[in-house]
Amino acid sequence: MNDDIQKQINSLREEINGHNHNYYVLNAPVISDREFDELLKRLEELERRYPEFDDPYSPTHRVGSDLSAGFEQVAHERRMLSLGNTYSVEEVDDFVGRCRDLLPGEDVEIVGEMKFDGTSISLHYEDGRLVRAVTRGDGEKGDVVTDNIITIKSIPLQLKGSGWPRRFEIRGEVVMPWTAFERLNAERAFNEEPLFANPRNAASGTLKMLNSAEVARRGLDAYLYYLLGDELPYDNHYQNMLAARQWGFKVSDAMKVLHGIDEVDQYIRYWDMARKELPVATDGLVFKVNSLRQQLNLGFTAKSPRWAIAYKFKAERALTRLRYVSFEVGRSGVITPVANLDPVQLSGTVVKRASLHNEDIIRQLDIHQSDMLYVEKGGEIIPKITGVDLSSREPGAAPVEFVDRCPACGAKLEKVDGEAAWMCPNKWECPPQITGRIEHFVGRQMMNIDGLGGETVGQLYQAGMIRDVADLYTLDAGELALLERMGPRSAERIVQGVADSRQVPFDRVVFALSIPYVGGTVSKKLARACGDIDTLMSMSEEQLTAIEDIGPRIARSIVDYFAVPGNRDIVERLREAGVQMSMPKVDEALQSDKLAGKTVVISGTFTHHSRDEYKALIELNGGKNSGSISKKTDFVLAGENMGPAKLEKAEKLGIPVIGEDEFLDMIK
Ligand code: IVH
Repeated sequence: MNDDIQKQINSLREEINGHNHNYYVLNAPVISDREFDELLKRLEELERRYPEFDDPYSPTHRVGSDLSAGFEQVAHERRMLSLGNTYSVEEVDDFVGRCRDLLPGEDVEIVGEMKFDGTSISLHYEDGRLVRAVTRGDGEKGDVVTDNIITIKSIPLQLKGSGWPRRFEIRGEVVMPWTAFERLNAERAFNEEPLFANPRNAASGTLKMLNSAEVARRGLDAYLYYLLGDELPYDNHYQNMLAARQWGFKVSDAMKVLHGIDEVDQYIRYWDMARKELPVATDGLVFKVNSLRQQLNLGFTAKSPRWAIAYKFKAERALTRLRYVSFEVGRSGVITPVANLDPVQLSGTVVKRASLHNEDIIRQLDIHQSDMLYVEKGGEIIPKITGVDLSSREPGAAPVEFVDRCPACGAKLEKVDGEAAWMCPNKWECPPQITGRIEHFVGRQMMNIDGLGGETVGQLYQAGMIRDVADLYTLDAGELALLERMGPRSAERIVQGVADSRQVPFDRVVFALSIPYVGGTVSKKLARACGDIDTLMSMSEEQLTAIEDIGPRIARSIVDYFAVPGNRDIVERLREAGVQMSMPKVDEALQSDKLAGKTVVISGTFTHHSRDEYKALIELNGGKNSGSISKKTDFVLAGENMGPAKLEKAEKLGIPVIGEDEFLDMIK
């Protein structure tokens, strides 16, 4: 009976791994998403019923967990070096010539590849299984990010086929495909979070997140380009990479063996154009000597291999006329200068506007009225002004001056302490600041009020129906329906959305208040540490900085915020309107000292209670929560999808791992 089940589970795992490979590596799924989900559900169900067959490498574990823990650092077995850069076909030809000179009388084959623009990763495999993933770090040592890497579905956890060395390392680039990058930035723009400048920053930022469920959601991918080990199957790079492709790795189709300088030149010319069609960002090409023996003979300089070189694509640049500089006011009052340009085509999109960031940048670029400006996109998706064409400056053109009054309300601007930014101090009367705060409040990650976007908020403000966020709770469907472009259905939807927002948990309410420097993560920490708004409002800077991850700048900002009577008034009116002003209470009767002196790490997802409730239960019973497993951990409270790296660590240190039922029994 058990044998049968194990067989069933194994065959489902194999089948699902195969479909993951088809989908994520070959981009050629053979079943529908729905059929795939059904297979996964069947496996999940079997694993739930027969936990004795659980395996941290099962495809069901590839959704990530929200466990936070710092990253462990390890030394690289072989240093992770960088590549020498070249910027022209001639320089690449010189490189090929140099290799030939150093290998007299030998035929030198060169392999051309894409230079993926992400963040490098080193993956270690033993007996066909991924055992560790390490970031480049400083080249000598890196962060162990296995839990996050596991969420990248194109990276095989268990290799396919045969012929892999018992132990080997494979290096590659973790990238964020353009579609995922654009989705992420659109979401961040909506939530008024800072945008990632390019997919590279987004990929490296994501890989270093502590919440692997969020990593999983963001849709990273990985291309592998370098196999290392003592028992590689072939004596050349190209065939080794083809073998790696057979084992399940994503190896770019652009990889090609090139004979002679002419083929190298052709390859460059082709990819200079064709790369624009690729689903991921690339910043150049890489040329490598194919033979491993020749690589060994050529060796390394202190910083890079002599057998490989990068060719960097030129950033695309356009020249266009400045129409005018506008000054825009954000929800925090900071003024952003924006260059409004004659529309110009750049890397496939039309550019009309580019941020000039702050006064210092305008000064450095020395921009005058109607100047012809250079706009670049390079690796940056956001267009950037990089210079002025002085030869076409109109005689007598005046330099662009930063405004000294707020373009929206006319208030005299003030300099932000220690920064290049100017801000409008008129927080309570300046319309874009007011509507900006209301738009933030209703945002998806904050109060998630359906039916209210930027435009409607502006309309309601114009109509005098809302002056601050608390006014939202007084909106009447009948009155709303009288507004232009608003029917009774939309009005009803808004009122319902406002009503539903009364259930939004306290930590998101804290985020929604628009306290400067208090984002989503900080809000969670504050809400958990304070428990309710009255405690938060009464805390001193000193008490606030005692909370994990709250630094002096944030503490100061919170104290300043609640010192303003208008803000306290909004909080009171929100409280009266029924908005959550405290964390959910756990039954006091559950209190005990059964866990006194015990340090507990929570990992995975649970069915009976949420993670926050388990955290509260541990504390209520006298225990202490910790984010990462160490010798001091007494036990791990594990739900489903506990990360394999965590499990391995717990096992290594001999720390008991207990399930939620056992835990609840323990504190009963
Ligand atoms: S080979 C010892 N191949 O570029 C040589 N690197 O500037 C190891 N990169 O740190 C690197 N695509 O993160 C190699 N096809 C490719 C690459 C590539 C992107 C990155 C990698 C490396 C950096 C060097």
